[in-house]
Amino acid sequence: MSSTSVRTVLVTGGAGYIGSHTVLELLKAGDNVVVIDNFDNSSPKALEVVHDLAGRECVLVEGDLGDADTVEAIFAEHDIDSVIHFAGLKAVGESVEVPMKYYRTNIGSTMTLLEAMDRHEVRRLVFSSSCTVYGDPETIPINEDTPLQASSPYGRTKLFIEEMLRDVADSNPEWRFSLLRYFNPVGAHESGRLGEDPTGIPNNLMPFIMQVAVGQRAKLSVFGNDYPTRDGTNIRDYIHVVDLAEGHLKALDELETGTGCRAFNLGTGTGSTVLEVVAAAGEAVGKPIPHEIVGRRAGDVIAIWADPEKATRELGWKSTRDLNDMCRDHWRWQEQNPAGFG
Ligand code: NAD
Ligand code: UFG
Repeated sequence: MSSTSVRTVLVTGGAGYIGSHTVLELLKAGDNVVVIDNFDNSSPKALEVVHDLAGRECVLVEGDLGDADTVEAIFAEHDIDSVIHFAGLKAVGESVEVPMKYYRTNIGSTMTLLEAMDRHEVRRLVFSSSCTVYGDPETIPINEDTPLQASSPYGRTKLFIEEMLRDVADSNPEWRFSLLRYFNPVGAHESGRLGEDPTGIPNNLMPFIMQVAVGQRAKLSVFGNDYPTRDGTNIRDYIHVVDLAEGHLKALDELETGTGCRAFNLGTGTGSTVLEVVAAAGEAVGKPIPHEIVGRRAGDVIAIWADPEKATRELGWKSTRDLNDMCRDHWRWQEQNPAGFG
């Protein structure tokens, strides 16, 4: 099938942060979309906004990806061509406390999905992996040949799923997998109507900064300024969620000809320190972000950023939005929706 013909894409976890932005891009591109989501970490309102912005709708199946009957019914009822698999749990700290829940949800539901795909001879899948599979790297930037390691149950679920998909691809050449290793997704749709809506106190930097900016939290704690980096704070490769969403469409297009199981870094290739993000966010918001330096957070990697050249070469994808765009769009979303979708 060529990239211009209409596809029907199953998107697992399509109501979530990255999933909802990707569903919007798929609908805008003319693809038919079926979403399965149990709303464990998202709101149906995200998809209502997506429908509004796209001017057309996806099919929503509210259900658990681990439920074999539900997943079987989707493949029986819809002529699915390919799958983008976002559904899963993603909190590193929680995964240390309840590892079985992470292994059951992330690995168990991926198995349920693969078995249904196999029965229905749907054998193209784009998988949400993470730069966490590189652990604490010795050399940066990171390319896809960097040795893999993971230091949390969450990270190991990503590593194991990558291994599972490699084995499955080796077993039958009809299988085609793209493993997309995201760096740090931030930002929101430029409309200000679709964005990240974390529950509870945000673990991640950008949502926390934006809750400080909107007055929901007094100040940001910066976790350590004694790292061997240019200003002593950790370096990450922040990537705009819409660039990331566009990467999924490129990966899906490429799977029409690409074979086997291949990994791609989706990052900008540029690292920013925590204090550089705080400064850029202050510019976007129009006032400084109150912050204080506190002790290091256990488990933080010193510095990591992507070499995204393989994605450019093989997928024809490149990020186009910079840190200022990410802060501006994230702030627009936060300012217009201080309570998220709630
Ligand atoms: P998210 O929590 O916003 O989205 C995940 C979605 O999956 C949610 O809508 C949730 O309700 C749904 N879900 C969870 N378990 C499910 C199940 N058993 N059945 C059906 N639906 C289920 O997370 P996100 O930030 O959009 O991340 C999407 C994917 O990308 C995840 O696999 C995550 O591990 C991966 N990832 C995220 C980041 C990040 O920083 N956001 C970085 C690297 C990788
Ligand atoms: N940070 C703060 N204060 C905060 C939150 C974060 O200073 O309140 C700092 C962290 O110490 C780190 C940087 O901001 O230096 C980024 O932290 P995030 O929590 O936003 O992102 P991480 O890079 O730690 O985590 C991300 C994903 C994880 C994934 C990990 C892999 O959120 O899912 O990358 O490295 F496992």
